[in-house]
Amino acid sequence: MGRLNNLCKKMIEFYRGDPARIQHFLKVHSFAQLIGQEEGLDEKTMYILEAAAYVHDIGIRPSIEKYGKENGSLQEKEGPAEAEKMMRELGFEPDVIERVSYLVGHHHTYSNIDGMDYQILVEADFLVNYYENQMKEETIRKSVSKIFRTETGKHIAEEMFYPEEFVMSETWAQDGLQELDDFIESQGIYIRQ
Ligand SMILES: [Fe+2]
Repeated sequence: MGRLNNLCKKMIEFYRGDPARIQHFLKVHSFAQLIGQEEGLDEKTMYILEAAAYVHDIGIRPSIEKYGKENGSLQEKEGPAEAEKMMRELGFEPDVIERVSYLVGHHHTYSNIDGMDYQILVEADFLVNYYENQMKEETIRKSVSKIFRTETGKHIAEEMFYPEEFVMSETWAQDGLQELDDFIESQGIYIRQ
């Protein structure tokens, strides 16, 4: 727990003065943690997933500093080295750093998702981005059906963006009485008044 909290605090410092970015990665972490736990990830994979969620967008700042702009591929290019440096300073294990850097370098690539940590990071990032980017329901539905794999992730998307509504028909009371009449008739029951 200690190292993960330290990483979270370091990321808050990294994005000092930029509450939108800070709140973005905190939300992504929160969804990732919930999905990971519900999907029964083992301790090590959870640890990697949580670390990756904190640092996944670390490439944005160096991209802007270097190129004056940021996009998915620049982030993927600039992110891993920055994540590695930060995590090494905080004493993370080399194999954890290696996997997290890989995830940072690939989290905008959806064609070759090779593990639950990767899958869940992508789902959590989408759940937050759909809202932050004000995406249309139709677009959300399409991308969820294409990209989401976990039941928990799909359920959260549905509940948050397109909840199934129970629509009561306007004639429900009449329909009910009619059904009762039909039933009584079919059973040959007579009600004496
Ligand atoms: Fe993100």
